[in-house]
Amino acid sequence: MDMTTRELPSIHGQWSSRWMFILAATGAAVGLGNIWKFPYIAGENGGGAFVLFYLLCIILLGIPIMIAEIMLGRRGRQNPENSMWTVAKESDRSPLWRFVGGLGILAAVFILSYYSVIAGWAMNYIVLALRGLFEGASAQTINQLFDTMVGSPYNLLFWHSLMMVFTIGVVAGGVEKGLERTIRYLFPVMLLLLVMLVFYALDTGYFANGLVFLFAPNFAALSPSGMLTALGHAFFTLSLATGSIMMYGAYVPRHVSIVTASIFIACADTLIALLAGLAIFPIVFAHGLQPEAGPGLIFQTLPLAFGHMPYGHIIGVIFFFMLLFAAFTSAISLLEPPVAWMVERLNISRQWASIIVGFVIWLLGLGSLLSFNLWENVRFMGLNFFELMDYATANVMLPLGGLGIAVFTAWAMRNEFILDELEVPKSVLFKLWKFALACIAPVAITLVFLNVVGILEF
Ligand code: TRP
Repeated sequence: MDMTTRELPSIHGQWSSRWMFILAATGAAVGLGNIWKFPYIAGENGGGAFVLFYLLCIILLGIPIMIAEIMLGRRGRQNPENSMWTVAKESDRSPLWRFVGGLGILAAVFILSYYSVIAGWAMNYIVLALRGLFEGASAQTINQLFDTMVGSPYNLLFWHSLMMVFTIGVVAGGVEKGLERTIRYLFPVMLLLLVMLVFYALDTGYFANGLVFLFAPNFAALSPSGMLTALGHAFFTLSLATGSIMMYGAYVPRHVSIVTASIFIACADTLIALLAGLAIFPIVFAHGLQPEAGPGLIFQTLPLAFGHMPYGHIIGVIFFFMLLFAAFTSAISLLEPPVAWMVERLNISRQWASIIVGFVIWLLGLGSLLSFNLWENVRFMGLNFFELMDYATANVMLPLGGLGIAVFTAWAMRNEFILDELEVPKSVLFKLWKFALACIAPVAITLVFLNVVGILEF
């Protein structure tokens, strides 16, 4: 690739400013993963020790891989598959590296298919909260509300479809007119709502219990599979290894510091996950509820609390709006890579690509949607369709994709190109970063994998 093409923006457009990129990437990172998934997997895996291991994964793997991914995207300036291909060619490496990008795009398709179903729950819960259905309700009534929601395929279908239509609508609008316009407003509102909730939690009298649960480590509670969950979640929450961040990187103007941006995004994401935990667990404890409730945690325990607290009606509405906005800016980032891929590959318009890819994802989502009701007992290796999708992406495809990106950047890409793109001197920090990609990431990912398959015991 010659200098002239590299100076040009991608054919899809480019972020209008450095801040816009940071906002968009943080919006992609902050989502259901932070507010719905992090609290419940932390709850299931015993809290503190899990959180510590997760933070370690963010620092040692998450940030280095994020830097690598944004860099690869900006150097390639295309969809993840083509970007990997272009950058590999430039370094005289095998064109097969493009499959790392391809795997990521596939993972994005899989993730969005169930992500949209869960985001649909959030929409449904806004309506339930607005109708005041949680007020004074018993645990039984709340559980019934949840069971009725997930038990009705048509109901889920309605919300899942609505979510997909919104997402398609934004992505069809393009980088500046669709993505930027939406993210610019939704993200700040989301953050404001979250901060309001934390202030509320401070007031419950159980804030300290929340702190202890999240930060006091009990290592006995952390199993190898808990470690894989933490590792997979570090990738998931930062939107790594599916091309989402690589794609957003392709729209970054030149001379934006990738390193600073990555550190900012990862810190903001982590902070928001911890804030979500600090908003949720005090409420859970204040009402004598269990932290290990699983995927239903925020949908079953929180409404109960909302129903019994002063201003709970409003807090409930705020909470589910916040959840929806967070999910929405992430859903956009999941649809963008496959859409860009199709635009480049088939040379069709962005509008058509959005509709076609969106339809395929919508269709795939039906599997997850049905696994909460009609297909509840259709199981593969003990997992239903939704659990399988979640497991296959977060615990297999994302770690593998992360491994591919780390190995490519550290071992295959030419150093001169890396230095040129990152615009940093060859400092100690640079060497540490390369070491994280070259050694820590491959060893850690392999160890955790082997451990789970039971070949090795710690
Ligand atoms: N990171 C988002 C969350 O925490 C979800 C998400 C968006 C994502 N894009 C992604 C996850 C790409 C993995 C890969 O909810």
